[in-house]
Amino acid sequence: MASGSGSNVENIARYFQKEGTIAIAAVLTNKRDAYVIDRCNKLDISALYFNRNAYSQSDLVLNLLKEIDPHLIVLAGFLWKIPDKIVHAFEGKIINIHPALLPKYGGKGMFGRHVHEKVKENGDSKSGITIHYVNENYDEGNIIFQESVALEDSDTVDEIAQKVHRLEYKHYPKIIEKLLKDSNG
Ligand code: GRF
Repeated sequence: MASGSGSNVENIARYFQKEGTIAIAAVLTNKRDAYVIDRCNKLDISALYFNRNAYSQSDLVLNLLKEIDPHLIVLAGFLWKIPDKIVHAFEGKIINIHPALLPKYGGKGMFGRHVHEKVKENGDSKSGITIHYVNENYDEGNIIFQESVALEDSDTVDEIAQKVHRLEYKHYPKIIEKLLKDSNG
């Protein structure tokens, strides 16, 4: 599930195209004009758009997910909170990547550039990524994996973002692969 550019989606898709045994069943997005849809078109991956009504006022998205019956639901820059009914239907099967070292810089409103701006503002000497399970609260599920990267005082917000993105591309597909392979014995 993704809301934005989808560079992680593309990176994950390319990784598994090479790997060969794991496939993306579909990409779901809450933004009609999200660039992730263009990427899916090029990558030959099904993409589905839904609005608030389908998502949280009805069971349409829940039922769609049940129909797809994925081994894992991967959030990659998906910005809406996951409704409790979806969390409960897919307990332990929804993961997210957060572009900071949780529990720092988590919670509502802490996404994308906002995170890197805060890291810069605070003059942190490192940032990183957190891959975690999704529960009922933003960025509070159990942590699966973290990796940090050193920051220089001279790093701009864009440079911090780039460093963090590099970590995302390197690790997210591998962690997804590990979770899927472990769960299948
Ligand atoms: C990533 O930094 C991810 O950690 C965060 O949202 C961003 C999505 O970027 N949750 P992209 O859409 O994959 O390019």
